Amino acid sequence: MTAEPPRSYSHAPRLPEGEIDPCALLGAERAPVELEIGPGRGGFLFERLAADPEIVMLGLEIRRKWAALVDERLQSRGLGARARVFAEDAKLVLPRFRPASLRAVFVHFPDPWWKKRHEKRLLLTDDLVTALGRAIRSGGELFVQTDVLERSMAYESALLKAADFMPWESSARVADNPYHALSPRERRALADGLPVFRLRFRRV
Ligand SMILES: C[S@@+](CC[C@H](N)C(=O)[O-])C[C@H]1O[C@@H](n2cnc3c(N)ncnc32)[C@H](O)[C@@H]1O
Repeated sequence: MTAEPPRSYSHAPRLPEGEIDPCALLGAERAPVELEIGPGRGGFLFERLAADPEIVMLGLEIRRKWAALVDERLQSRGLGARARVFAEDAKLVLPRFRPASLRAVFVHFPDPWWKKRHEKRLLLTDDLVTALGRAIRSGGELFVQTDVLERSMAYESALLKAADFMPWESSARVADNPYHALSPRERRALADGLPVFRLRFRRV
């Protein structure tokens, strides 16, 4: 038996140049648009679409393989008109999103590295927080969760000092995920009995 050659996934979908209008991209003029940054294998996307039939979703996944496979799976399950995943670096493309074009953004377990030398790889930087503040509409939400306590503390203080965001309730820390959808890593953490630190912020 000959082994399959490795696939390059060069066909993974990419975003168009210029300003990105998520509604136009999905052909959904009035539906609320939610964005997941780094969906990986995509479990949250599928469960979230099933949980709320009103919404449409975008995923930005830096790994071409997962962007291509999850986007193909969305189409083969008849969800292609409600969601797409693009092979993009969220840090580069989010500043091009039309202002106030997103109802919610989810960032699940973004930075599994927490050593000093890994800081340049961090996803949730001050620049990304600024871009999120611009892209999320007033009253919209930002949900971030991680299993690394130090990371959750750093995200919380970065978001508390950002003028665009305020805690969803009296505190940004929430015990549960209220979206009726779990990310793959979240599901594994819960199965292993590991703590999950969750933050929910409102766009002011
Ligand atoms: C630790 S995994 C978590 C995957 C998934 N969110 C979950 O909770 O199971 C982090 C994901 O973020 C993606 N990622 C990292 N940096 C990114 C970036 N700058 N833009 C888009 N995706 C990114 C990785 O490729 C990976 O799929």
